[in-house]
Amino acid sequence: MDEVERFSAEVRANVDRLMADADMQALSRAWLAEVTRRRYTYNFTWLGRPVIQMPQDLLAVQELIWQVRPDLVVETGIAHGGSLVHSASVLELLGGDRLVVGVDVDIRAHNRRELEKHPLAHRIRLIEGSSSDERTAAAVRDHARGRQAVLVVLDSDHTHAHVLRELQLYSPLVTRGSYLVVFDTLIEDLPNSLFAGRAWGKGNNPKTAVWEFLATSPRFEIDPRIPAKLLLTCAPDGFLRCVSD
Ligand SMILES: C[S@@+](CC[C@H](N)C(=O)[O-])C[C@H]1O[C@@H](n2cnc3c(N)ncnc32)[C@H](O)[C@@H]1O
Repeated sequence: MDEVERFSAEVRANVDRLMADADMQALSRAWLAEVTRRRYTYNFTWLGRPVIQMPQDLLAVQELIWQVRPDLVVETGIAHGGSLVHSASVLELLGGDRLVVGVDVDIRAHNRRELEKHPLAHRIRLIEGSSSDERTAAAVRDHARGRQAVLVVLDSDHTHAHVLRELQLYSPLVTRGSYLVVFDTLIEDLPNSLFAGRAWGKGNNPKTAVWEFLATSPRFEIDPRIPAKLLLTCAPDGFLRCVSD
């Protein structure tokens, strides 16, 4: 075993231990509840654009893009555009004609302006419309035509019905070996009081949509190792590996 393999084996064993470590998982969930209360995920930027994510999740998406080498990333939920710029920055290093397509029901003028003048604008396409609308999905499919490897990230409206519809519309684009990442599955695991006034909560959120989707979608399986190694993630049960064509 060479040094590279030895280090990989050490990390695998580390993640194995974390997967079995209920105390560490409970501690992490408690921390996540406290930082959710404090809007911690609003505190960061990626190459100048605000990104509403746990930093650990950005690391995981970076790892997936580098591993899968998609020629198209599709993201629902743009907000300020930080996650689009994040994906674009990794695609830029991979080269070729790789693109990230972002969908949002409301692309604010100032966010569009900042994205259009960003140094990575040539890697980014914006589609305004509800991600659950068939016309929006058709516009995304136009971008996917002829692409070899497609990765999809869902981070828009977090209600069960909306995410289930997104899963149905966008999962067919995901190619074998790639991933369908569903954010904010964590809502199911946190106290409902954190989501007072929101349309989502326990029993009605991205995780319940993932569970319903997987019951009839053998092309996908949960990758439990990614949330296990992150510990601090908004996507438990949300990293879905595409296992067949
Ligand atoms: C959590 S933010 C996205 C954060 C972004 N992915 C990031 O990492 O910075 C959710 C976004 O979803 C958008 N959204 C809400 N409902 C939507 C819908 N039906 N279709 C598309 N986007 C929607 C909102 O306008 C908002 O910008």
